[in-house]
Amino acid sequence: MQTAESSFENLRKDFPILKRTVRDNKHLVYLDNASTTQKPNQVIDAITNYYQNHNANIHRAVYALAEEATQAYEETRDKIAKFVNIKDRQEIIFVRGTTEAINLVAYAWGRPHIKEGDIIVTTEYEHHSNIVPWQILTQEKHAKLEYIGMDDNGELILDDLDKLIATGKVKLVTFSLMSNVLGTITDAQKIIEKCKAAGIPTLVDGAQAVPHMKVDLEKLGCDFFAFSGHKMLGPTGIGVLWVRKPVLETMSPFHGGGDMIREVHKYETTWNDLPYKFEAGTPNIADVVGLGAAIDYLTKIGMDNIREHEVELTKYAIEKLSQVKGLHIYGTKDISKRGGVISFNFADVHPHDVAQIIDEEGIAVRSGHHCAQVLMERLNVAATSRASFYIYNTKEDIDVLVNSLNIVAKVFKL
Ligand code: ALA
Repeated sequence: MQTAESSFENLRKDFPILKRTVRDNKHLVYLDNASTTQKPNQVIDAITNYYQNHNANIHRAVYALAEEATQAYEETRDKIAKFVNIKDRQEIIFVRGTTEAINLVAYAWGRPHIKEGDIIVTTEYEHHSNIVPWQILTQEKHAKLEYIGMDDNGELILDDLDKLIATGKVKLVTFSLMSNVLGTITDAQKIIEKCKAAGIPTLVDGAQAVPHMKVDLEKLGCDFFAFSGHKMLGPTGIGVLWVRKPVLETMSPFHGGGDMIREVHKYETTWNDLPYKFEAGTPNIADVVGLGAAIDYLTKIGMDNIREHEVELTKYAIEKLSQVKGLHIYGTKDISKRGGVISFNFADVHPHDVAQIIDEEGIAVRSGHHCAQVLMERLNVAATSRASFYIYNTKEDIDVLVNSLNIVAKVFKL
């Protein structure tokens, strides 16, 4: 009988890139999954098949290929609805990724709704994509951007939110469901409940969470939710914005052009139905089809099994890395509160040096500020090294990482 772990080992064969060697003939150990994930043959084949057999523009023509392409594109919308439990497919908008999704909200919802003196609340552990669009908006509107602080365990201080809500000026609260640096899983339910009680809409950045755990939007109860395809086995350049219908209906268009219109006259235009009002121009059809294949692949494994596999890996990694003298892991060690993302610093060796030395052993980790400089300031560091796991990673990958850190220790005489 196959154990759960051996079935995860088995799926490695679906990922052609994992067969290759790098540098001096070293096996690739890919630990940069928070950045982007590798793609299985099922996704690569779906894109190739689309271009080889079905390529045409969508929503425009009546010939056979156009019908097939439209159907393949729209099928992914239905798969997304099922995957994250959305009842109304008209609430699902295809975008380039989480960054574009948040910018769309800042522009199309933020501009008509945010006024001088209003407050938008984000958190100290956000990615730049959930800070910068709000800085631009609040500066333009003479509004204010405020932060929910983080404690030394890497968890949000929700008293900060209570104090901000008490001002009566908060018009939006936005936060990531999982930190891309610390792996902290946000207590989203609690934040959303507090905001709902005060009539404040919430935006959740699900980029790091959706690939790794079951997300149920109906249950979560937020108003905006964004995630990216490329962090969940899908292609780059495709992502999803979900907006609750009554809120979506109050939003002005983001981009003007083809497909988002009903009628265009010389001096006025009327808008297409939802969600097409927000999907101007020829979309990224092939990659939407690829995202559909990624969702099929993840669904077959089961999101609860994926979470279980990553908990097992993360537990093992924290245990092994904690034994490395001079290595400091950031964030909570409570596995139930974190995902498979481990940021660390090794003595006073610069993270870029760590990454460069272990790259010689075939290991891919990210080093730097991880597009989270506000968090780096809070941690009082310029950078960290970050190992992040996914379905195809094994305990052996972690052993290779730990062994390679011994080489770093030797080079720097630690
Ligand atoms: N958001 C990606 C990361 O955390 C790029 O690395």
